[in-house]
Amino acid sequence: MAEKMLGVLVHGAGWVAGEHIRAFTANPHTKILAISSRKLASCQKRADDAGLKDVAFYTDYEKALAHEGVDIVCVCTPQHLHAENTIAAAEAGKHIVIEKPIANSPAELRAMRAAVAKTGVKTVVSFVLRWNPLFETIKALVADGALGDLYSVETDYQHDIASWWTGYEDARTKEKGVSALLTGGCHAVDAARWFAAKGRYEAATPVEVFAYAGGWRKGRDIEFNYHTNSFRPAPPLEYDDLEMVLIRFDNGVVAKVSVNYGCVMPYMFPIEVFGDRGTIKDNRVWSTKFPGQKGWIEIPTILPDSADVSHHPFQGQIDHFVECLRSGTESHCNLEDAIKTHEIVFAAQRCYETRQPVKLPLEGV
Ligand SMILES: NC(=O)c1ccc[n+]([C@@H]2O[C@H](COP(=O)([O-])OP(=O)(O)OC[C@H]3O[C@@H](n4cnc5c(N)ncnc54)[C@H](OP(=O)(O)O)[C@@H]3O)[C@@H](O)[C@H]2O)c1
Repeated sequence: MAEKMLGVLVHGAGWVAGEHIRAFTANPHTKILAISSRKLASCQKRADDAGLKDVAFYTDYEKALAHEGVDIVCVCTPQHLHAENTIAAAEAGKHIVIEKPIANSPAELRAMRAAVAKTGVKTVVSFVLRWNPLFETIKALVADGALGDLYSVETDYQHDIASWWTGYEDARTKEKGVSALLTGGCHAVDAARWFAAKGRYEAATPVEVFAYAGGWRKGRDIEFNYHTNSFRPAPPLEYDDLEMVLIRFDNGVVAKVSVNYGCVMPYMFPIEVFGDRGTIKDNRVWSTKFPGQKGWIEIPTILPDSADVSHHPFQGQIDHFVECLRSGTESHCNLEDAIKTHEIVFAAQRCYETRQPVKLPLEGV
């Protein structure tokens, strides 16, 4: 008997949804059954772009969740809707792909954790860089002992998030976007956790956070366009464009993480990992494993050097999650793990109020 395909509903038919649809369509065990969004025209566009014919469209999420045969819901709406969309999907008994950031407050994290724990559905959060080829290479080298014992990690999300992004109108606001570290910088926070742990599929557990916020874009109605090397008028960010965070992990590793939306340059995601037997700077390695080494060894690979979603390894993330569902295993990047990344972001917010280091886990999550 032929194996049953896992049915997929994609909710929120925007920029990132196109990549998830592509990945689920290419996976041999899944089939897109439905797309839901605010506008039917957006559902139609996503289906047309992917060449999908036999797909249902909904503007009512509850009705979409009830569509016959849906096993997986892929939440691709703006971030302020992720918690309620995830809770509704969990209550409907669906496995869930949750786009980052997963929540706008510790209270939302708590409610999501409770809903998923109650129904036992499986989740994966779109910290998609964990499947980037450089990330995979660094993790494999570290797990193999190339750097010895780790003691320090640095990751930076340097990106001119601005009005070119379809999600900017919501994300630039304090109410719906909350902070730069939450909207985009959470990728760098998650990367720091990922590289601070020695296990191949392990992310480190944070125990303390201290942070400063600053920059130049908050309230300023201009933005930089690096294609033309000029500034232009644009709606302002309602929060600071720069945050710098220090994190101490339970294994003793200390990390420095930043998000920088004010950078006057194209997108970059620098990575540094230091151990007592070697160092990695992006795709360059120095290790005592290579006793004859006279210069940095450069690994030809795909770096996290583009903001375009078509450059992100969504296929790896989706194939991994489908494998988790088929084998009944939990993802290393599930809701429970992502809560630790988000707690760092909310702890940084607390630092700006108290000017004191914040201990993790946060109370009440
Ligand atoms: N993991 C990554 O690397 C990555 C990359 C890019 C984005 N993201 C994340 O993905 C999420 C979506 O970003 P995006 O770039 O795809 O944004 P986007 O292009 O603005 O797409 C969001 C979609 O959500 C729909 N929507 C808005 N309000 C809705 C509602 N109340 N009910 C149903 N649908 C609603 C909109 O639908 P209509 O068109 O129907 O109005 C829009 O098409 C964000 O959280 C973002 O941070 C992650």
